Amino acid sequence: MTWLRPRPYPLRLTELPFSPPLVQAPMEGVTNFQVRNAFARLGGVGLLTTEFVRVSSGALTEKVMRRHVLKTPGVPLAVQIMGNEPDFMAESARVAAACGADVVDVNLGCPTKRALKGNVGAAMLRDPELCHRVLAAMREQVPGLFSAKIRAGFEETEHVFAIADAIRASGVDFLTVHPRRRKDGFREGTCDWRIIGLLAEKLDLPVIGNGDVWCASDARRMMQETGCAAVMIGRGAMRNPFIFRQSAALLRGEEPEKPDLVALLAWYRQLAAECLEAFGGHEGGTLARLKEALVYLSASVRDGIPWRSAMVRSTRLEECFGHLERLLAERPMEDFDLCAERAPWAKNPGGPDCSE
Ligand SMILES: Cc1cc2nc3c(=O)[nH]c(=O)nc-3n(C[C@H](O)[C@H](O)[C@H](O)COP(=O)(O)O)c2cc1C
Repeated sequence: MTWLRPRPYPLRLTELPFSPPLVQAPMEGVTNFQVRNAFARLGGVGLLTTEFVRVSSGALTEKVMRRHVLKTPGVPLAVQIMGNEPDFMAESARVAAACGADVVDVNLGCPTKRALKGNVGAAMLRDPELCHRVLAAMREQVPGLFSAKIRAGFEETEHVFAIADAIRASGVDFLTVHPRRRKDGFREGTCDWRIIGLLAEKLDLPVIGNGDVWCASDARRMMQETGCAAVMIGRGAMRNPFIFRQSAALLRGEEPEKPDLVALLAWYRQLAAECLEAFGGHEGGTLARLKEALVYLSASVRDGIPWRSAMVRSTRLEECFGHLERLLAERPMEDFDLCAERAPWAKNPGGPDCSE
């Protein structure tokens, strides 16, 4: 299928307008404002992203959008929206940009059953024409940067090229690619970086590569192997909050810092303090957030499952921090996969999967 080339908006980008070329991945229920701030504090992130905001029975109002467009000083914010109705999506995109989103991004990758039922997210990859209609309508309403995040097709990866053409023709400024199919979820199948490379070569757009970057050397390798313009990191950042900083150093040709466990504890303390403030002092909500972040961290600890099982049973914030302090004090540094190179024992990195 060929698409008419739209008028330029305002110009085709040849490179990404942010640096370092490292992007925090949107993660529903995980990358809230406090987590984004926490990553930004450590440095190395070029672009922060909200989790998806669902557009279903009408366009999002300014009041609703303002709850999502929470900006961290000094780092641009992409606001991601998910839906399939062109008018609602176009108006929501306009509102997001008007509320201060530095980038408006469209979710064309959510693999969940709920997204499939609503024919949104990755389900839209079955229909390049629908993707084009929705994105072209949005493009008209976004004066600034506009992007899309896709998977490597719905059932079969060969469809990804038709989709990418349709999306490019709708006038996006850049495209993020997670090279798994819808049916692969986040763990199954191969996260085939060659697809990122093929799209980066074929499209006259900057492509952001995403998927299975677990340490800084993976980020550098993804850029070298695929020619992508930037790397987006999700679970890898939750299991190693230093990853952006380490990756930025590696990309500058510098020696990345070794992980600092005292700084790591302070990072979780500050994250919890910000959550506590945001939740009006509500300990339960803060504890839930902290446990979630620490479950990811446990995936970077050698034989971390018994520790994780004990930690998640904490009923108070200080009890949870007690588990963390003991872990950091008692285990040798070699038991933490937090360096720029993957630890030799960390064969199957990962974290909790996206729930359906
Ligand atoms: C818990 C969870 C929630 C996610 N939520 C979103 C989302 O809201 N929007 C989106 O585009 N992708 C979402 N993703 C996908 C991630 O952005 C990313 O593409 C995926 O985790 C692969 O990257 P990684 O290997 O660096 O984690 C989510 C993934 C997880 C694990």
